[in-house]
Amino acid sequence: MLSEKMQKALNEHLDREMFSSYLYLSMSAYCAKDNLKGFSNWLKIQYQEEMAHFDFIYDYILKRFGTVELGAIEKPKKVWNDIRELFNEVLEHERFISKSINNLVSLAKEEKDFTTDTFLGWFVGEQAEEESNVDEVIGNLSFIDGRGPALLMLDREMATRVFVAPILA
Ligand code: FEO
Repeated sequence: MLSEKMQKALNEHLDREMFSSYLYLSMSAYCAKDNLKGFSNWLKIQYQEEMAHFDFIYDYILKRFGTVELGAIEKPKKVWNDIRELFNEVLEHERFISKSINNLVSLAKEEKDFTTDTFLGWFVGEQAEEESNVDEVIGNLSFIDGRGPALLMLDREMATRVFVAPILA
């Protein structure tokens, strides 16, 4: 059984995961329109991953006899100056999500809710991986100046990403 405080915090995080998927979908659309189909693909898959994260937490609240309470989702941005700015914002957003997960872990420990603490462990690892993946994209983009052939090559590489449904371990 979840405490009221934990239930509220998990519900608030649910909205953040939903906003993440919404944001990445908006970014994906922007890239598609900007003829960066590979980046668009990468971000569309990121959107799917965020929806999976949302589902995991949604299911967990219900499994622990809690109540799901969905909040309003903020409208995401739809335009960026360039692809580097966009990916810097992805990293900034992922760091914000990591902080939110860490706050949930702190609360679970404080309440001696070891079931939730264990459940959240997967998310801690997932966040580290996501931050690292985005950082790698930013690193690659830092070698590219403008929209030359190197950007086209990177776009082709981003097109190879496929969605693999995450499994809660
Ligand atoms: Fe579900 Fe990328 O945080």
